[in-house]
Amino acid sequence: MYTTKISGVAHYVPDNIVTNNDLSKTIDTNDEWITERTGIKERRFAGPNDSTSSMGTRAAERAIERAGIDKSEIDFIIFATLSPDYYFPGPGVLVQEQLGLKEVGALDVRNQCSGFVYGLSVADQFIKTGMYKTILLIGSELHSGGLDMTTRGRGVSVIFGDGAGAVVLKRAEDGEEGVLSTHLHSEGKHAEELALIAPNTKRWVPTIMQNKDPDDISYFPYMNGNFVFKHAVVRFSEVIMEALQTNNATISDIDLLIPHQANLRISQFIQNKLQMRDDQVYNNIMRYGNTTAASIPIAMSEAWEEGRIKSGDLICLAAFGSGFTWASALLKW
Ligand code: UT7
Repeated sequence: MYTTKISGVAHYVPDNIVTNNDLSKTIDTNDEWITERTGIKERRFAGPNDSTSSMGTRAAERAIERAGIDKSEIDFIIFATLSPDYYFPGPGVLVQEQLGLKEVGALDVRNQCSGFVYGLSVADQFIKTGMYKTILLIGSELHSGGLDMTTRGRGVSVIFGDGAGAVVLKRAEDGEEGVLSTHLHSEGKHAEELALIAPNTKRWVPTIMQNKDPDDISYFPYMNGNFVFKHAVVRFSEVIMEALQTNNATISDIDLLIPHQANLRISQFIQNKLQMRDDQVYNNIMRYGNTTAASIPIAMSEAWEEGRIKSGDLICLAAFGSGFTWASALLKW
């Protein structure tokens, strides 16, 4: 059986920095509230030339360069996002075109904040079975165009940011380790606690327009923040422990935990609960906000650039979000 190595990781974020003070010009919010509740100081918002696919492509180009491969070696594309360029088709095919790849398969993953780890798991199965040798996995989000940027939406809109991260996954050479295990979960009874309900098959855009109901804000993301927070801290801890137990490892064996960047308070809660040192946990939500499927690869890319990930390190990825879905992966870099 083969194993899966991350051979290149990179990210792309738009230049436009939006601070908490910037948001407070149009929304009844303030730097103190946002910092205290979430840890976020600023986020990036896409410019007119950015799209979910184009940001993903920019991150992918850098990841391919860092992997030292030719793009013609890519056998398959996996694209995780909740904010696709189009309702359909998904952005995977757009990356195939934008990168000028041969006619390889492109799979779109719809698992929100857990999307990158779900995508990694799918890629790992393809590589393990020998079906593909080199897979491009992207997480990218353009949230800013779809948020309610009025005071009504402040509980959600101050949290999210735009950006993309990408990894090149390769079949490991003999004796090399890589992805050790992945763990995927869902609990659909909570689907509407964190969701973007419309458009959907019962309420398409023309219906919403015809009804002209000012209270119908189903086309904006909704989050029951307290409820999600309480579930997140439990599920994050559980799924990290599941990954460790599967591999007979302990908390102290982890060189770096890269949690999905949902809220700095969630990361700190998990760190305290699992009694981890500061140097074992990576956080960059302060600079980017919550970038959903992009948050783990952006964090992984920055951690790698900062020298916080070295060959042989045990890395744990963990995510929780809309669905609810949650997931983890343990890998030897
Ligand atoms: O990535 C996917 C998973 N997502 C998460 O895990 C997020 C989980 N949830 C959270 O991170 C937190 O629940 C939030 C950061 C979203 C909210 O923090 P909170 O401590 O749960 O605040 P809250 O929703 O209970 O709101 C507290 C107060 C309310 O006012 P009242 O009713 O106490 O008068 C809100 O109206 O804060 C008010 N508020 C704001 N005030 C200033 C809500 N949003 C804002 C805002 N600025 N942006």
